[in-house]
This record gives sequence, C-alpha cells and structure tokens, in this order.
Amino acid sequence: MELCVALDLPSAEENLALAESLKSHNIWMKVGFRAYIRDGKPFIEALKKINPEFKIFLDLKLYDIPNTMADAAEEIAKLGVNMFNIHASAGAIAMNTVMERLSTYENRPLVLAVTALTSFDEENFSLIYEKGIDEKAEQFAKMSHENGLDGVVCSTFESRAIKNATSDKFLTLCPGIRPFGEDAGDQQRVATLEVATEEGVDFPVIGRPIYRDENPVQKVEKILELI
Ligand code: C5P
Repeated sequence: MELCVALDLPSAEENLALAESLKSHNIWMKVGFRAYIRDGKPFIEALKKINPEFKIFLDLKLYDIPNTMADAAEEIAKLGVNMFNIHASAGAIAMNTVMERLSTYENRPLVLAVTALTSFDEENFSLIYEKGIDEKAEQFAKMSHENGLDGVVCSTFESRAIKNATSDKFLTLCPGIRPFGEDAGDQQRVATLEVATEEGVDFPVIGRPIYRDENPVQKVEKILELI
C-alpha cells in the first residue's frame, strides 16, 4: 500500500509548502483539477524539484473521443508524471487507443480508470448509469482490465470484488478515506485505513484529513506507521 496525498489547497504556495514538509517521506502526490488548471506544468516541475523521488498522480479524469484522449495521454506522458486517469465510461475503444498510443513510451505512466466517483450515493448513481454502484464498478473494472489499463479508481468497498473479478495485481486507488474516522465532508462512501488495508487497497488517496489537520506531517507519519 502506498499513500497518495491530495494537493487540493487553494494556492500553489500552500501545496508546495505541504509537499516541502513531506519531502522526506516516500509518498505519492495527487495533482488534481484545481492545482493543474491554476498552476500547470511549472507546478509539476516545482514538485519534482522539492523531491525528485516524489511520485506524481495527475488526476484529470480524461473523458472525450478516443483520439483526443490519446493526444492528451501523450502530452501527460511527456510531462513525466507517474500515473493519470481516464473515465471508464469513455469506453473500450478510448481505453485501447490511449494504451496503444502510450505503448511507445519507455517509462509510460500508469493508467487508471474512474469507475464510480466516491461522492455518488446509490440513488444519484443509478439515475445516470441505471445500475447499482457495485455492479457497474465491477463491470467498468473488467472492461479496463481487458483493455490493458493498470487499475481503477474506486471506493474501498469495491476494491476486493474488483481484484477478484480481474487480478490481484490490478491496482485499486481509493479516495474517500478517513484514516481514523475523520469528518466525511462531501464523500458518501468513506472508509478507515484499517478497512482499506483489509480490502487490499493499493493507493489510499487522502486529502482533507491531512491538509486540514493541525499537524499534517504528524498525521502522515501516523498513517505511514499503519500501512
Ligand atoms: O479531501 P479528500 O480526502 O476527500 O480528497 C479526495 C480526493 O480524491 C479529492 O482530490 C477528490 O477530487 C479525489 N477523488 C475522489 N473521488 C474519485 C476520484 C478522485 O474523491 N472517484
């Protein structure tokens, strides 16, 4: 299990200060919409300058026509990040096109597919996908596995079933983690770190419980002790 810290703070300075304080730890940094739209490529470079060993997950959840997604995937590979994601609902052709385009890159980033956003409850999910979350997440995971992706973004509660339906090596990255039962915020399906461990989660993604803590460094250390 490898910890992934969500850099969702309101400014580049605050995110970089958080990264700086965590630079001696072997962790992943998640750069999402907010940070990437605002701070772009220089932000990725600044993170690597702080610690060249930081692994970077670019969480942009690509969703478009296959060729446009593959073009974007290639630009992402050129950025030198270690992992990014697409929406599984973009479909099998998009998955294939992205993976084929990346196959020429020697150190290609890992590619994950988003199954169901962890902020969905059952009712709102089925209004869009016309199936229950568990069933649809598993179906999306199988499709992603068959089309060469490295893993999925899912809730902790789907991690085990997804591995059973695909492979133990198929990665699960799970947001909505409240390591020690902290406030859920807008997340609907939250799990503690203990449950995440039981469910075989490969990457717990943790944002607010770390950056809103009085002492984020201590919190990260407490988390790392557990995993
Ligand atoms: O603050 P919190 O720990 O809830 O942060 C979770 C992070 O994971 C946020 O950056 C959010 O955008 C992201 N995420 C998510 N659900 C997904 C995919 C990403 O919450 N399915």
